Amino acid sequence: MSKFRTWRVGKYCFPSSDARFFEKTGLRNRSFFSGADIMPRVKFVKEKKEIEVPDGACLRDVALKAGLSLNLGVNGIGASINRNFNCGGKGLCGTCAVLIVKGMENTNPLTKREKLRLKCPIPDPIPTLAYIGHEDTMRLSCMTKIHGDIEVESGPEFNLFGENFFS
Ligand code: FES
Repeated sequence: MSKFRTWRVGKYCFPSSDARFFEKTGLRNRSFFSGADIMPRVKFVKEKKEIEVPDGACLRDVALKAGLSLNLGVNGIGASINRNFNCGGKGLCGTCAVLIVKGMENTNPLTKREKLRLKCPIPDPIPTLAYIGHEDTMRLSCMTKIHGDIEVESGPEFNLFGENFFS
């Protein structure tokens, strides 16, 4: 056995004296060093609610657990229907579209299903129309994985007769 004992934490290697220090101070938990202990925070802007979620959690799922439905469609049209009749988080209906107003970099990249749903106006053009002008912030909450702090605006609003469309 080596005279100089070391103690490994992830990719870091500490001499044994440091290891004793970490043990004494209670900082021995690996997750403390890897950052896994730090839970991402999700702030729902309209609902004025903030929750902590595990890394990699699905935005729609954590909202449902927190008692919020993100299946509001756009402009709140048919929100009560969308709450109950949606694709169940498969990225097909587009009713769970939200705006990530802060922290888009803390989410996964746009998935193929999102690209299809948000960029293809067939069969339902509403999510596609809502996507115009919100390309940098709009996501389908059921396809969004959270890897850091984000702020979410549910039920995005858009103006069919505004400058995006007919001017
Ligand atoms: S729940 Fe249908 S697209 Fe997200």
